[in-house]
Amino acid sequence: MVSKIGLVGGGQIGGVLLSDIVSRGLAREVGLVDVKPPALAEGKCLDVAEGSPVIGRDFAYSASKDFSALKGAQYVINTAGVPRTKRPDGTMPTREELLTINLSITDAVAAGIKRYCPKATVISIANPLDAIVYRLYQKLGISKNKLIGMAGVLDSARYRYFVAQEAGVSVENVEAMVLGGHGDTMVPIRSACRVAGMPVEQFVSAGALKKIEDRTRKAGGEVVGLLGSGSAFVSPAWSALEMLEAIIYDKKKILPVCTLLEGEYGVKGLFVGVPAVIGAGGVEKIITVKMTAEEKKLFKNSVAAVQNTANEVDKLTKALAKKPAKKLAKK
Ligand code: LAC
Repeated sequence: MVSKIGLVGGGQIGGVLLSDIVSRGLAREVGLVDVKPPALAEGKCLDVAEGSPVIGRDFAYSASKDFSALKGAQYVINTAGVPRTKRPDGTMPTREELLTINLSITDAVAAGIKRYCPKATVISIANPLDAIVYRLYQKLGISKNKLIGMAGVLDSARYRYFVAQEAGVSVENVEAMVLGGHGDTMVPIRSACRVAGMPVEQFVSAGALKKIEDRTRKAGGEVVGLLGSGSAFVSPAWSALEMLEAIIYDKKKILPVCTLLEGEYGVKGLFVGVPAVIGAGGVEKIITVKMTAEEKKLFKNSVAAVQNTANEVDKLTKALAKKPAKKLAKK
């Protein structure tokens, strides 16, 4: 058990993170930050605290609208950002407007972490994933192994679930890896997919696999469409906790994570989803996957998409420097 985990954002994902951290007994204290009035962070924590006797878990909490609740946290999970929803006047913000708002929120998050827990290892879930992690790295000034984006564990879990359903076997039997950016260009690595150690093709036809891979790429949107408002929240939270547990327990677990590449996979200076050994040191080692020629091509294409996003972030930097950070909002 660690002493303190900080959570930025008390929305849907933040709520699952909080209750699971407590029910799994991962930390002595949780610090929750959310600007939402009247006191959303406090309300969420009090709810879980009042339930804690029932599940027999002692924990302390700090909750705040500013970043002070992060004070002394060893780990921080960031979910802060605004989703693409209609404004009160019925119009939709453009992608660029949304990115501008979310980058200013991210800058505020980075400043808060630097002030209250500069040594923390940070896992970021907020979207657009690749852009936010890139921005956090620019602003946090921490070593690259201590900043990890969560996307690959979730995308791979979706692939695993679909394969397990199709093959008629337990999800525990399916191993899979989805790499690249967290968007439509993500790359399910079929050649690395195994069912109880055997090649997936032995259990699932090529046609069905192709459908599964297409569905995996659009899986986030599928849930958004079904929910009506907001995006998936249980599976992203569990995926981030898989990473956090690998760090807390120094598991040296190989997980697909969004991490800074410095020449690996022929990529420099970009945060991209690749497998890495996750342990007490955060990202301890990047693993190179053997890909087929087709997978290599798709991976390159995905890296190009991530590069575009990074360019967009760089372009918006000047504009952001003129505008002060806006309010922090839940994902
Ligand atoms: C998704 C969001 C959480 O993929 O990134 O559902």
